Amino acid sequence: MVKNRMQKNIKKNKFNFAIIYGSTRKNRLGIRFVNYLEKQIKLKGHNPYIVDPLKAKLPLLDKRFLEYKKSNVPKNIKKIHNILQKSNAFIVVSAEYNHMPPPALINIFNYYYSEFNRKPSCVCTYSSGDFAGIRVQSPLRAMLSQLGCPPIKFGMFQPNVSNFFNEKSIPSNKKDAEIRFNVFFDELLWYTKKFNS
Ligand SMILES: Cc1cc2nc3c(=O)[nH]c(=O)nc-3n(C[C@H](O)[C@H](O)[C@H](O)COP(=O)(O)O)c2cc1C
Repeated sequence: MVKNRMQKNIKKNKFNFAIIYGSTRKNRLGIRFVNYLEKQIKLKGHNPYIVDPLKAKLPLLDKRFLEYKKSNVPKNIKKIHNILQKSNAFIVVSAEYNHMPPPALINIFNYYYSEFNRKPSCVCTYSSGDFAGIRVQSPLRAMLSQLGCPPIKFGMFQPNVSNFFNEKSIPSNKKDAEIRFNVFFDELLWYTKKFNS
């Protein structure tokens, strides 16, 4: 059923993108960036799905998805499985916590495995300061390669995230944000089409 729907959408060049976010902080700022990406993907005519560890409340890993009996998978773990399974590509949105990705982000990835296989990904990073969290590119790119969803060379990198996006995720410079979004998204779409042809 899900596969049939995916095939129909692929024929129409309409793809599913999972936006995987890593912050569980109550006053988190990266969610503004995530919501912006979601909106832009919709405007391009595709389907974005946010994977949010604050909402999903995944505990620190005990059993991976594939270790549960099918009839016994907790709802929150199953829900994310469904999103990842139907996604044609992944957009990882990460801050830098002491030069490393947030632990909740890595925790999400460790629950799943085959869901990522042979699909493209990209890494978008941000920070409250000037460096846009780019130091987490390397560890995340290594992990995505290991999971079988190799990252493309482009991403969107957002310094001073709370100055650039207001609480409604509206950028202070719309044109600049759109240009930077298009650079990585067009490239990701190219790979997504190739991987699904
Ligand atoms: C535990 C922790 C560690 C941080 N370490 C870094 C860091 O290494 N480099 C950096 O540029 N910002 C760092 N920051 C600042 C983050 O860029 C900023 O708090 C950002 O808003 C975090 O994303 P979030 O609000 O979506 O959780 C850190 C923040 C926290 C909470």
